[in-house]
Amino acid sequence: MQLWQGRFQKALDPKTNDFNSSVSFDSRMYKEDIDGSMAHAAMLCAQGIISAEDQVQIAQGLGGIRAEIENGTLEIDPNAEDIHTFIEGELTARIGAAGKRLHTARSRNDQVALDIRLYLRHTCDAVYAQLTELIEVLCKKAEQYADAVMPGYTHMQRAQPITFGHHLMAYTEMLLRDKERLADAKKRMNVSPLGACALAGTTYPTDREMTAHDLGFDGAMQNSLDSVSDRDFCIELASALSILMVHLSRFSEEIVLWCSWEFKFVELDDAFSTGSSIMPQKKNPDIAELIRGKSGRVFGDLTTLLTMMKGLPLAYNKDMQEDKEAIFDAFDTVNMCLTAFIPMLDTMTALPENMRKAAAGGFINATDCADYLVSKGLPFRDAYKATGELVALCIRKGLTLETLPLTEYTAVCDLFDEGVYAAIDLDKCVRGRTSLGGPAPENVRKQIERVRALNR
Ligand code: ARG
Repeated sequence: MQLWQGRFQKALDPKTNDFNSSVSFDSRMYKEDIDGSMAHAAMLCAQGIISAEDQVQIAQGLGGIRAEIENGTLEIDPNAEDIHTFIEGELTARIGAAGKRLHTARSRNDQVALDIRLYLRHTCDAVYAQLTELIEVLCKKAEQYADAVMPGYTHMQRAQPITFGHHLMAYTEMLLRDKERLADAKKRMNVSPLGACALAGTTYPTDREMTAHDLGFDGAMQNSLDSVSDRDFCIELASALSILMVHLSRFSEEIVLWCSWEFKFVELDDAFSTGSSIMPQKKNPDIAELIRGKSGRVFGDLTTLLTMMKGLPLAYNKDMQEDKEAIFDAFDTVNMCLTAFIPMLDTMTALPENMRKAAAGGFINATDCADYLVSKGLPFRDAYKATGELVALCIRKGLTLETLPLTEYTAVCDLFDEGVYAAIDLDKCVRGRTSLGGPAPENVRKQIERVRALNR
């Protein structure tokens, strides 16, 4: 059934109908569509626009449709124009005239804008809950490895000593911001467009605040044109999800590196690794790679939404039907990525001995060596230069700062004494980094406490 009977002599060309139809991707909003229609019918009745008998019939009819979709006895017609058309048609087939009254003082334009908002509220909550779980997994691991010294990197060059726990906790900060962004976007999304009708409201005495309240919104949108034209919330959410995917992708990249024999800082559980079809020795971090790869999809979804909206005059344009595949894909992708990422991380084993070996070989205590000279009264720039000469010397001799004899130290700068070896001890170097946010294990434990409190 097409909704525009009357004006037209012919049905839509079948292939064009396929092109025009959105039911293949908007049928997942059937529950929200029914919730919206029930609230709308209750309002129409409360305002005396439809009779109480009609409202009862509509509510019962919609309830039956929902139950039958859920138990599989009612199949959603793949040729329907969209889920809104399908449900209204089905309702009318069941209850007749009352079904035809449901669409009084409403349009599919405000209806679809409503349904997406209702639907995305759930998906936001689901991703939010996954992030909470991921942050807790990270806190648990960070606790376990708060003392595991590893090299921190800049330019992918060993730079200064940190701990694995500290490194993991950096990601919890990003993920907390991701949660905040989602919650914030959700708050702005949580206003009701229902009752804006096609674009210009209605002459019926509707109560938009009533439907907004009944559907759990914080209020009704205040301009009827904006109500049906706005997809900012899709763009905001896709953007928040894109930033989240940047974080998952960077993390995945690190895991891929850490799994390599060049690093071997971690070992993934067999349940989250794959083998090669030809090379028997291989154990590949496919899941991490796939997450890194899938970030591109989500950025693509954001670009789709921005591009789709940027040239649209007010109010509704059919271009906007493209919003759903993009934003649903973004949420589906993030959800799938997190579903694999969380247990992969949870079952990942760290190899602290290898981290320490890398830390010991990388001159990452050179800054501490220079700081030692500063403590003896040398200006930092001079201390930096003297330490640089020592590092060059070590490289020539195949030594480290720990194994370089004191005579070599004093030959470069006579302020050195035996105390330098304690000053450049890796554990001490980490323990001393107690500045706010620094990697000292006691700091990291405080960070974990703080993050856990924020993650409730
Ligand atoms: N399937 C449409 C969409 O997803 C519903 C709104 C259609 N409105 C219209 N006037 N054609 O955007």
